[in-house]
Amino acid sequence: MNSRRKFLRQLGGSTALLAGTGTLVNAETAGMSAAPVHLIKPLKPRSAADTINIGLIGAGIIGHYDLNTALRVPGTKVVAVADLYDPRLVRAKEVWGKDLFITRDYREVLARKDVDAVLICVPDHWHDRISIDALRAGKHVYCEKPMIHHIDEGKAVIDAHKKSGKVFQVGSQRASSAAVLEAKKRYEAGDIGELTSVETFLDRTDALGAWQYTMPPNLNPKDVDWDRFLGDAPKRPFQAERFFRWRNYTDYGTGVAGDLFVHLITGLHTITGSQGPTRIFALGDLNFWKDGRDAYDLVTAIMDYPKTDKNPSFQFTTRVNLATGAGGDIHTRLVGTEGVIDIGWNSFVMNRLKRPNAPMYSKGYDALFTYPQAMQDEFIRQYDQKYPAGQYTREIKNEPAIAFNTPANYDDRLDHMIVFFNAIRANNPSLVKEDAEFGLRAAAPSLAANMSAAQKKVINWDPVGMKLVKTV
Ligand SMILES: NC(=O)c1ccc[n+]([C@@H]2O[C@H](COP(=O)([O-])OP(=O)(O)OC[C@H]3O[C@@H](n4cnc5c(N)ncnc54)[C@H](O)[C@@H]3O)[C@@H](O)[C@H]2O)c1
Repeated sequence: MNSRRKFLRQLGGSTALLAGTGTLVNAETAGMSAAPVHLIKPLKPRSAADTINIGLIGAGIIGHYDLNTALRVPGTKVVAVADLYDPRLVRAKEVWGKDLFITRDYREVLARKDVDAVLICVPDHWHDRISIDALRAGKHVYCEKPMIHHIDEGKAVIDAHKKSGKVFQVGSQRASSAAVLEAKKRYEAGDIGELTSVETFLDRTDALGAWQYTMPPNLNPKDVDWDRFLGDAPKRPFQAERFFRWRNYTDYGTGVAGDLFVHLITGLHTITGSQGPTRIFALGDLNFWKDGRDAYDLVTAIMDYPKTDKNPSFQFTTRVNLATGAGGDIHTRLVGTEGVIDIGWNSFVMNRLKRPNAPMYSKGYDALFTYPQAMQDEFIRQYDQKYPAGQYTREIKNEPAIAFNTPANYDDRLDHMIVFFNAIRANNPSLVKEDAEFGLRAAAPSLAANMSAAQKKVINWDPVGMKLVKTV
């Protein structure tokens, strides 16, 4: 077994030692030092009256997660909820209190003076419109990812954010995840040398992961505000699957690329400070979920990231597969000239190496062993003379692996929420890194992957100017 695989096996067996440390641990000393957990600290409310009132727009799956997470941040309260399915409004009162203001029309939430901040947890095709309306209404905005449904919607959100002076954060929690931020430190310290390539994937195997969400029994279409749901999407008669499983349809969702590449790219941009790739090429297929959906369930993309003052040029490959039986997982691998960082959702392992300063040869597998013995001996004699063993490193030296694990029950969504509320409390929108420009720069390559797969061509993107580049 090679030493890396052996280490990973040992690591698998020593989770208990690593869990709870939330810090970098040299694999060989795992469990011996327990440094304190490094998580983002919430700013304290100045008084009991210092409360940030929240309006939730979209009380579906992530609306519940996001709001419950936000309510764990000190000095927050929910006052209003909008949704287009009446039973979800009933449920909102059951969960968050009977005094809650509820409505089908999100504009009524925005019109309320007591709402300071909104969580926008609606399908992707509504993200830009509601974000812009909320910023114009003077609300701080936490908008779920991807920030936009189509690339050309991005600039208007950026403009509205700039004009508003309010805090705006996109909801891909990778931007605040402890494993990502710790990997960023290692990357910036030059621990893996010059970046050459990044590989990522996010695979899912189950029906829930593949967006086959539970539909209500005895559905009454009158409980659904179908016309409002359609928004700027093409008009069509009510279809329950499209409402409850909207992600499977490109009129409302952004497919596996827009929906999930965006997490992987957010992590990548957070670690490297990259603004995005210049060329995107992707393949898309619908292999497994033949349930009427029109979104691909498998997309693989390659992108090239240009050289900048922060990074060398590097290749990026990414994939989301909802169709595999091989096991769901998320992975990011940064490959540098001096090492590799393998990142999961809440952990990473870094393997570093020291490069030799003499040219390498191998007695076992090289052209050398194909030469006559006398010639081999002469080669080695000359090599030893030119690169004496004491003065030169003549082989790659692997250093002990370094592992990072977050504590058990670590929740990066909470860290991300804390960043949002800290920026509001500090009255400092720039505390948010995943702002509207970041949001466009993460969403656009993801959406361009969809375009590339559909049009079967390379899509060119200007990551600095944030615009598509036409090819002649
Ligand atoms: N950050 C994450 O990890 C993460 C995870 C899951 C989903 N998301 C994002 O969250 C968003 C919502 O996803 P979900 O899984 O919660 O979907 P969902 O279908 O469970 O919930 C969406 C809710 O929005 C409501 N809605 C639709 N249009 C509306 C409108 N115009 N006004 C008010 N309410 C409206 C629907 O009635 C529904 O209750 C998506 O953009 C998704 O990409 C993010």
